[in-house]
Amino acid sequence: MIVLGIESSCDETAAAIVEDGQQVRSSVVYSQIAAHRPYGGVVPEIASRAHVDVIAHTIQSALDEAQVHWSDIDQIAVTRGPGLASSLLVGATAAQALAARTGIPLYAINHLDGHVYSVFLSPEAPTPDQACPLVVLLVTGGHTMLVRVDSLSHFHLLGQTLDDAVGEALDKGATLLGLGYPGGPEIEKAAATGRPDPQLFPRGLQGSRGTVSGGLPRDRCFSFSGLKTALLYWLRDQPNLPAEADLADVAASYQEAAFAALLDRLERTVKDEGVMYMACVGGVAKNRRLRAQLETVADRLGVQLLVAPMPYCTDNAAMIAGIAGARTLAGIPLQGLEDIQPSAPLGA
Ligand code: KG4
Ligand code: ZN
Repeated sequence: MIVLGIESSCDETAAAIVEDGQQVRSSVVYSQIAAHRPYGGVVPEIASRAHVDVIAHTIQSALDEAQVHWSDIDQIAVTRGPGLASSLLVGATAAQALAARTGIPLYAINHLDGHVYSVFLSPEAPTPDQACPLVVLLVTGGHTMLVRVDSLSHFHLLGQTLDDAVGEALDKGATLLGLGYPGGPEIEKAAATGRPDPQLFPRGLQGSRGTVSGGLPRDRCFSFSGLKTALLYWLRDQPNLPAEADLADVAASYQEAAFAALLDRLERTVKDEGVMYMACVGGVAKNRRLRAQLETVADRLGVQLLVAPMPYCTDNAAMIAGIAGARTLAGIPLQGLEDIQPSAPLGA
């Protein structure tokens, strides 16, 4: 089962060939970070133009690297959403044109489902059958979620952020601190030599009870907007931007407060759900401090930890091709691509 995956939901143009759902034969990612850096964030107009410029070449490179011909490909899988409409349209249109030209069946995949599946792209990973049920912490620039995975076709949202995503909080914090873009890796670098002060920043929603609208329990939800505001107020009280040594301490404190909230909710949820596997996926899962802290939590709970391999944490097409292939092999019907869905929820 050879699947060509195409992903263009935000600012990376990506194509991949994945065999039998787990074997990545190629994964090509064209990152637009340099184009957006001067603006300190993703500019949708620039993103969609850049996708148009490089998508054909990116897809061809994925085939070439995998040494695969069009006649070898069983399926094309493309991201339907969530994401920027003008970016999603480029990948969807390219996929539709290729499917019409080659006669290869085309299926639509949810970007969040793809991120969740990325833990299974490691050669050492168990199969989904072995690992389910598992609790997944999904941490990206656009989403922060706790997901229970019962099978490849049953993903349940257990909790999510009520405002900013954790990646967004790191990106905004880095901007306030005068660090580069994207902010997650910059804060990680700055924090490496710092000493976190646990009193400096709030851990959003700590100790809260009840449910939020939509019925999710508050103690499984996240809030990061207060963290960003606390940094803004702290900086206002500083006469100048902090000196380098202080900057390391502030970055470490900010990162630690963000991660403490993630780990607190994850630990409680894994315990309550009684699962034997917990996982972490998405761009923020690249962070080595977070990975180390996840290991500590897993050891304390006596559960297995799965973390997405580094190249498949940030946006990529291997996760899109992988889940399409795995679901097909498990006999789960895929949906065709009727339209893009910029606000698609998990599992849709
Ligand atoms: O998964 P992703 O590529 O895109 C979305 O689907 O949103 O995640 C991008 C996010 C950005 O917020 C970026 O700052 C963060 O992942 N990120 C990191 C690291 N590398 C990327 N955050 C913390 N530490 C990192 N090393
Ligand atoms: Zn993503």
